[in-house]
Amino acid sequence: MSVDIQPQSEVSPFEGGQPGVSEAKSGLAVRSGGDTWLPPVPVVLQYVNEPLLFAPLYDRCIDSGAVGDVCVPILECHKVSMSFGAFSAIREVSFALNGGEILGMIGPNGAGKTTLFNCIIGVHHPWGGRIIFNGADITAMKPHKICRLGLAKTSQIMEHFRTMTVFENVLVGALHGGQMNMRPAREQAAQVIEFLGLKDESDKLSASLSVPARRRLELARALATGAKVLLLDENMAGLNPHEIDGALALLQKIRDSGCSLIVVEHIMRAVMGISDRIIVLNYGAKIAEGTPREVAENPQVIEAYLGERRQSICTPTVCRE
Ligand SMILES: Nc1ncnc2c1ncn2[C@@H]1O[C@H](COP(=O)(O)OP(=O)(O)O)[C@@H](O)[C@H]1O
Ligand SMILES: [Mg+2]
Repeated sequence: MSVDIQPQSEVSPFEGGQPGVSEAKSGLAVRSGGDTWLPPVPVVLQYVNEPLLFAPLYDRCIDSGAVGDVCVPILECHKVSMSFGAFSAIREVSFALNGGEILGMIGPNGAGKTTLFNCIIGVHHPWGGRIIFNGADITAMKPHKICRLGLAKTSQIMEHFRTMTVFENVLVGALHGGQMNMRPAREQAAQVIEFLGLKDESDKLSASLSVPARRRLELARALATGAKVLLLDENMAGLNPHEIDGALALLQKIRDSGCSLIVVEHIMRAVMGISDRIIVLNYGAKIAEGTPREVAENPQVIEAYLGERRQSICTPTVCRE
């Protein structure tokens, strides 16, 4: 069965109806096979002036041949801008993360990756643009409220309660995520600890953990909040190649459990190998978006970021099409 996605009109996701999701009657329509029109389903939205924002996803969804696979964004940034004084750290960045997707975000140091993450989780309030999570406008929301809606981030610099055990650290995540009763919070923490292979470390002080175990603890604490979307800021920093393989397997496992991920990573082998799509930031602006291979071959990206290293970062075996 083939599926066509046909633009019918340009409709802003921010004008009426549920923000960020347009239905067949108002934006895009889904058609199966010959002339049979299916009932309206939520489909990839179409921004005014940015009709091709999600073009790479159309291909992926259409190829699958299943209407149920039509991609729906769970998180959308629309023209997000952020300044520190007169310095523009983020400039009108738009992108969407689809449910079940791993989206890589790359860019040189100072490109604005961490700042954009902080805008999404409410640490910074962007002065321009909108951020929609699961249909809700979270642009000016407080961080703890955003966390309770199901968005969590891990930090580049490992932040944990050093004098607390692994279990207690993860319990803090479960409680912070809105699980206010101790018993279900403890159950949730125990489940996440087992899921991430930290059971043997559960009663150890977090300060005594190895670097890879501490990185897993970061993931565990974020997951224990009940996150539907995880933002990972260089979670593989400090790992050796063997440990990176283990971390990648863990991220796949988290995605398979139903969580969507945005992965900021400097280790090109990792981000190129695991991401469904990649966006590239440079000087606070998005300069490219596409599959890992498309991004690696984009002249602007090569010029701005990858430079001479292009051959070494994207061999046919590590770079997803
Ligand atoms: N709190 C801050 N105050 C002033 N400038 C900042 C602040 N945080 C980040 N910046 C600046 O914003 C730019 C983007 O930083 P950052 O988001 O950390 O980049 P990346 O994570 O891509 O390395 C950098 O030039 C950085 O110096
Ligand atoms: Mg950073």
